[in-house]
Amino acid sequence: DVIDVRGLVAQGLFTYDPGFVSTAACESKITYIDGENGVLLHRGYPIEQLAESSDYLELCYLLVRGELPTEEESNTFRKTVSQHTMVHDQMTHFFNGFRRDAHPMAIMCGVVGALSAFYHDKDFSDQEHRDIAMFRLVAKMPTVAAMCYKYTMGQPFIYPKNELNYAENFLHMMFSTPCGDYEIDPVIAKAMDRIFMLHADHEQNASTSTVRLAGSTGANPFACIASGIAALWGPAHGGANEAVLTMLEEIGDVEHIDKFVAKAKDKDDPFRLMGFGHRVYKNFDPRAKVMRETCDEVLQALGLENDPLLKIAKRLEQIALEDEYFIKRKLYPNVDFYSGIILRAVGIPVSMFTVIFAMSRTIGWFSHWNEMASENYRIGRPRQLYTGHSKRDYPKK
Ligand code: ACO
Repeated sequence: DVIDVRGLVAQGLFTYDPGFVSTAACESKITYIDGENGVLLHRGYPIEQLAESSDYLELCYLLVRGELPTEEESNTFRKTVSQHTMVHDQMTHFFNGFRRDAHPMAIMCGVVGALSAFYHDKDFSDQEHRDIAMFRLVAKMPTVAAMCYKYTMGQPFIYPKNELNYAENFLHMMFSTPCGDYEIDPVIAKAMDRIFMLHADHEQNASTSTVRLAGSTGANPFACIASGIAALWGPAHGGANEAVLTMLEEIGDVEHIDKFVAKAKDKDDPFRLMGFGHRVYKNFDPRAKVMRETCDEVLQALGLENDPLLKIAKRLEQIALEDEYFIKRKLYPNVDFYSGIILRAVGIPVSMFTVIFAMSRTIGWFSHWNEMASENYRIGRPRQLYTGHSKRDYPKK
C-alpha cells in the first residue's frame, strides 16, 4: 500500500535527485567552479589571484557589481561601508535576551533575523534599496559577530573604529576592551582578510541555495540572510571548521591518528575526518592551497610552528594525500581544515569559527539574492518522490 514511482507518471515527469547532485536551480554569473580541476573564479577572476592582489571589500564590490571598481569607486564603496558599521542601539536588547552560554551562531542567527525588524519598510524591488541593504549587511556583520563574542565572554561591546580597515576593525571589536586597545599585528589582519575573501562566495552551496529559496518568496533580505546562517551552521557545511578543531583536540596526539583514520574508513562507523572531502571539489580546493600558505605565515609570525595540534593536522594532511582510501575517493583537505588552525592561532575561540564564516559569506548570499531579485524569478518549489501510504479511509468510530 505504498505509491510507487509509477504512481507519479500521472503527476507528470520530473527528476529525482537527492541532495541536488546534478540539478541546476538557477542561472548565475557570479561564481564558477570546476571541481574536477580545482578551479574557482569570481566574475571570471581566479581566487588565487584575488587572494594575492585584492582584498575583501574589493571582492565584495566585484561579487555584487560584476566588475572591479575604479580607484574612485573603491574609495566611495569603502567609505560607505565604514558609515554603516554601527548597529541600532536597541539591538543590544536582543543580545541581552540570550543566555550567556548560548552558541554564538544561535545568537547571530537571531540577531541578524531581527535586523529585518529594523529595515522592513523598504521596497527591495529597486536596486537603490537593495544597495543600501548590502552596505548595511557588509558593514554590520563584523559588528554583530564581535558583539556575539563579547556577549558570551561577559565583556562590554566595543564600538567600531572607522579609521581601521575591515579586518583590523573586526579584530579591534573582538579583542579591545575599555581598559585598552588590542595591538593589531599586520600579518594577522592580512590573514583574517584572506579568510574573509576565501569564504566570500561558493555558488549554490546549501546556505546560498537556502537564501535563494527564502528570497524567492519575496521575503525580507535580512531574514533571508538569517536563513543562510542557519543552514551554514551544520558540521557538514560551515560548522566543519569548528568540527576540525574539536576533532584535532579529540585525537590529542600524533600517535592516535591511525586509530581515527581507521574509524573514518569504517563504513559501520559514522565518524568522518572533518575538513576532508567536498561535494564539488574532487581535486585540491584552490582556496585550501591559499589557506595553507597563509596558515604557515601566521604560525611562523606567532612562533607556533611546534604547536601540537598543528603537528596532528600536518600528519593527517600527509596521510590523506598518500592513503589509498582518500586518493580513490578524491578526498582532499578543504578550506575549513586550514582556516580553523589559523583562527585558533589568532586566539579566536572555536565557537566563533562558523560565525566568522557566516560574516564572510554574507556578501556571497547577498550577491545571489540580489542577482535573483534583479531578474524575473519564480518561487522555488522542489518536488518530492512520495513513498508513503496510498489513500486509505479513516477508521469508523
Ligand atoms: N572522511 C571519511 N570518508 C569520507 C569523508 C570524510 N571526511 N568524506 C567523504 N567520505 C567518503 C564517504 O564515506 C563515501 O565513501 P563510499 O563511496 O565508500 O561510500 C565517499 O567518500 C563519498 O562521500 P559522500 O558522502 O558521497 O560525499 P558528499 O559529496 O555527499 O559529501 C562532504 C561531501 C559533506 C563535504 C563530506 O566529504 C564530509 O562529510 N566531509 C567532512 C565535513 C567537512 O569537512 N565539510 C566541509 C565542506 S567544505 C565547506 O562547507 C566550506
